[in-house]
Amino acid sequence: MSERTQVGIVGAGPAGLVLGHLLHLQGIHSVILEHRDREYIEKRVRAGVLEQGTADLLLEMGVGERLEREGLVHHGVELRFDGVGHRIPFDELTGGKGITIYGQQEVVKDLIAARLETGRELLFEVEDVRPEDVDSDSPRLRFRRDGDEHELQCDFVAGCDGFHGVCRDCVPDGILTYRERVYPFGWLGILAEVEPSSDELIYCHHARGFALHSMRSPELTRLYLQCEPDEPLEDWPDERIWRELHARFESPGWSLKEGPIIEKGVTPLRSFVAEPMQHGRLFLAGDAVHIVPATGAKGLNLAVADVRVLAEGLSRWFSNRDDSVLKAYSGRCLGRVWHAQYFAWWMTQMLHRMPDDEDGFQAHLQRAQLNHVVSSRAAATALAENYVGVG
Ligand code: FAD
Ligand code: DHB
Repeated sequence: MSERTQVGIVGAGPAGLVLGHLLHLQGIHSVILEHRDREYIEKRVRAGVLEQGTADLLLEMGVGERLEREGLVHHGVELRFDGVGHRIPFDELTGGKGITIYGQQEVVKDLIAARLETGRELLFEVEDVRPEDVDSDSPRLRFRRDGDEHELQCDFVAGCDGFHGVCRDCVPDGILTYRERVYPFGWLGILAEVEPSSDELIYCHHARGFALHSMRSPELTRLYLQCEPDEPLEDWPDERIWRELHARFESPGWSLKEGPIIEKGVTPLRSFVAEPMQHGRLFLAGDAVHIVPATGAKGLNLAVADVRVLAEGLSRWFSNRDDSVLKAYSGRCLGRVWHAQYFAWWMTQMLHRMPDDEDGFQAHLQRAQLNHVVSSRAAATALAENYVGVG
């Protein structure tokens, strides 16, 4: 096990693994510390929508062979409200762009396999990671593994440890500014062993609450229902989930296919940004420093976009001590982050049933917005551009 590395990376989610591989391609040494076991992170069902830029990067990095084979390229989505579907054709509105449906856990599996092939270190089941002296020239990561205490000397530390990680909290008080909105709802997500009921994603507005139809493969359907942020899963036996999904997606001539549910989970929706994304030699990336509500499908894509900039900055620093990109890191990323935050908020407020809307004011505004999006080419183009990813 190394006792010294150029970049100590905390977290083997998409951010940490993509960063590790980009650094490897530049000949830069890194060690990735992950506190879960490999099986857990390879099975964790989360995002599924890759922007074109994310899919292109994975291909360029040489980890996109299975993505290219198994990923489902989509050129539009459906917005469904008042029981009627309206297609937003991305390709026509964005000059041929689209998205790729490929599960985050598949991206993670591919990246882990690639990492292990490089022979670079990726340590699972690491406990009690403590970043220290991050504002000095020689930051360290202390941690425990198999009961033994370790210390890893680093030139830089990358905090890619997600929203509940430790890196953000090691920045001294008063340096980071936090901005947050917690939405009064969550998503109950399921994975079902059944052929998708539609070729494309369906974002559905309904008086009973938002619903989303997505997929993972020709045999696996991913579905989400708006619920309470702390909804107890025990209250949702499979029959109730299907009943609710049928009610929300109801549309003449369309039916939802049912199959065995193999995964269930509740995710609260929140917007969160901590800035700046850097302190001394600690660089924060992905969910460790920003969360977007899932409606815009941006979280994974932002995480990848952050570490792309970080890898460029580190590569310049290690090749000729040029720190210009590292200095600009936070500013460059935050422009994209706030743009995604705006889009995800916009989708969220347009599609979810708002509590305390007794007179239906919010619901009427939402219907007006949805009608505008599906009847104005300009409004539909704005949605399409944001969805496939800007820049
Ligand atoms: P994470 O994936 O959270 O990875 C962080 C890693 O750090 C984890 O492996 C964790 O175990 C590890 N870790 C944490 N603490 C420590 C510690 N102390 N020491 C060591 N390791 C630690 N995004 C999209 O772009 N599109 C979507 O369609 C989409 N849908 C989503 C649906 C759901 C249900 C959810 C929950 C999320 C969704 N997202 C989506 C968001 C997306 O999954 C996240 O934004 C993405 O996982 C961020 O990647 P990350 O690498 O920054 O963080
Ligand atoms: C999926 C998740 C999202 O948050 C979203 O907006 C679209 C699709 C998915 O898991 O497939």
